[in-house]
Amino acid sequence: MTPTALADTVGQLIRNRRATRAFLPDPVPDETIEAVFGLAGSAPSNSNAQPWQVEVVSGPARDRLADALVAAHRAGRRTPDFAYDESIYSPVHQRRRAAFGAAVYHALGIGRGDEDLRTAYDLKSLRFYDAPHVALLYAPESGNPRLTADVGMYAQTLLLAMAAHGVASCPQGVLSFYSGTIRETLGIPGGKLLLGISFGYADPDAPINTVDVGREPLSETTRFHR
Ligand SMILES: Cc1cc2nc3c(=O)[nH]c(=O)nc-3n(C[C@H](O)[C@H](O)[C@H](O)COP(=O)(O)O)c2cc1C
Repeated sequence: MTPTALADTVGQLIRNRRATRAFLPDPVPDETIEAVFGLAGSAPSNSNAQPWQVEVVSGPARDRLADALVAAHRAGRRTPDFAYDESIYSPVHQRRRAAFGAAVYHALGIGRGDEDLRTAYDLKSLRFYDAPHVALLYAPESGNPRLTADVGMYAQTLLLAMAAHGVASCPQGVLSFYSGTIRETLGIPGGKLLLGISFGYADPDAPINTVDVGREPLSETTRFHR
């Protein structure tokens, strides 16, 4: 491939990847799953330590996990490995988050006061938006931010590998709020859960899958020093 063709292809891959929030039930073939996770392992990491631990959940284990997550949510049982608090976001981050939330709820046809519909949607997210698989990405027990950055590298490499193979995905930080439940249900020995990635094939008819949240202009996030 010429450099231009490669840049075009990779540009399309990066730009066309989207968080998918409605999946078909069809499972992804094992060979494809092995290919994408094999590719994701090529992600860079500090000193090539590859400090990620990945649990891929499908079939009956996936169904048991979805049931356990919904039960934990209903019981208000949150057990995150990494503390979470809205104050981690600055006002500009909050503004972007609000725009994102408005776009998603608009596509779903859920209004501000529709608490029942919002709750139903939250439960759907804990059922992986009906995706037949979920990958759980763990950082080492220390939870050191340098190592979580490596897991982030792995996560994006995985999302792009999936997109290249026609597999749709949704990174889901929300799953990390229920790390204790996940650990008990699957018998996971250690590590700290950073996020889950639900994956499968996108439902082409779901309006939620048409949401394109866009990005800030380059100048908002990036300064060039010359
Ligand atoms: C670390 C991380 C956590 C996320 N958590 C959630 C989540 O819990 N639920 C969800 O629906 N989307 C989640 N997303 C998806 C983002 O909302 C999405 O990537 C962002 O709005 C940009 O949209 P795009 O991926 O379609 O370009 C998460 C993404 C990342 C990177």
